Amino acid sequence: MPFTRERPETTSNAIGDWLGDPDPTSFPYEQVLREYHSGGKHFVPDELLRQLADVRVLLPGLARPWPHVETLAFFLDTALDKADGRYDYRSYLALPLLRLPSVQDPVEQDLFARSRCDRLTVQLVTDALAFESAVLDGSTDWLPRMRPDLDLVVKRCKHGMRAIKPALARMALDGGLDAAAPLEQTRQACEAVRADMALDERRVLRLTMLPVDTVHDEHVFLRVLQTFETTFALLAVQLRGAMEALSGRVVERALHFLAGSEAALRESGPLFSMLATMQVESFRTFRQFTEGASAIQSRNYKIVESLCREPDAERLDSPAYLSVPEVRGTILAGQRTLDGAYREAVGSGDLSEADAARLADGMRSFARALLRWRNTHYRLAVRMLGEAPGTGYTAGTPYLNAVREIDVFRSVDTPWEIVECR
Ligand code: HEM
Repeated sequence: MPFTRERPETTSNAIGDWLGDPDPTSFPYEQVLREYHSGGKHFVPDELLRQLADVRVLLPGLARPWPHVETLAFFLDTALDKADGRYDYRSYLALPLLRLPSVQDPVEQDLFARSRCDRLTVQLVTDALAFESAVLDGSTDWLPRMRPDLDLVVKRCKHGMRAIKPALARMALDGGLDAAAPLEQTRQACEAVRADMALDERRVLRLTMLPVDTVHDEHVFLRVLQTFETTFALLAVQLRGAMEALSGRVVERALHFLAGSEAALRESGPLFSMLATMQVESFRTFRQFTEGASAIQSRNYKIVESLCREPDAERLDSPAYLSVPEVRGTILAGQRTLDGAYREAVGSGDLSEADAARLADGMRSFARALLRWRNTHYRLAVRMLGEAPGTGYTAGTPYLNAVREIDVFRSVDTPWEIVECR
């Protein structure tokens, strides 16, 4: 598609000047964002894309300061994904910029993952809510198309607040939330979180919001997906932690990580309600430009699933895992699982009967939370998508309907029941 929109001369000059004296601490992000935001990432003028590609060429020569170089590299990764023809879920959500905890990190860091994820969760969700407030106040005209009505925004705020209240309490940021009206309380939460944020955290929020179009509701869509990804990242490291603890027979720690994983998934439930306030027509409008980016490519979701137990061969050879080749490779190379660790620990005779039963209960509670997640996701997808195929090239909801019933574990039974997150 030809990009013919007029460009503001200031952006062109700002990048031109920067290219003449490339300093990673002074890259003109705000000017670039303004252009991306004015028409959406799908409609960025070719000239700007060419300039950004020139910036990228300089990256290998920009050794320092490293965090700034890395941020610029990650930003270009998401800004140039469409132009490069490698647009996908990861680049749509700008996941590298979120610097989520990872199973690649040393296992000792697992204990700190929750506080990192709490911070990100409240920042991402309040950013979504702050955008809604700003539109109501008339202080922004960004993403002007298909504005939701007031009732919908109030609902969005209520569900968003429900999603972050546990994390706000753990961060001791809930003290001043005394307004009775939902919009006012939302504003209080946004202010408390903003005041707590470091400058580079604020920058990350700015750089991780590159909608493909100019439809209002894409903002909440992106933020909710990013927040769920934060939860999946936490689950992945905690389940890995549970497995390691079980292998070392540290039962209390394994239980701690299992309970933490169940709680994290349960707490994320209201995010689905928040996303359900997205207008179906809005979703169908911006979705024309998200083809190729599907959460079927979520690495952390598949890491979680495959850490619980080894996927069946049929699933491993289906789009579910062919969409995440690195994860599939690790499984084929012989990844250990919680299922295996539990079976091995029980079989060794090292565990008391009571401990084995507590562990089985912990695994069952987590499995139930995951089944609830799948059901709620399925219902939401049916509502938003109808009969249309998915952006990850599956048949869409028939695929999701089928995968709802996959056993989470094999070593402990989990009755499959139709329950949903609330
Ligand atoms: C408008 C809301 C949503 C719709 C219509 C939707 C639709 C779909 C569809 C059709 C698939 C199948 C793969 C494909 O062809 O794309 C899928 C997979 C998936 N979605 Fe969603 N989704 C929605 C929201 C979400 C959210 C908020 C998350 C949270 C990150 C999410 C996570 C996933 C995951 C992890 C998969 C892979 C499941 C698997 O392979 O077993 N989705 N989604």
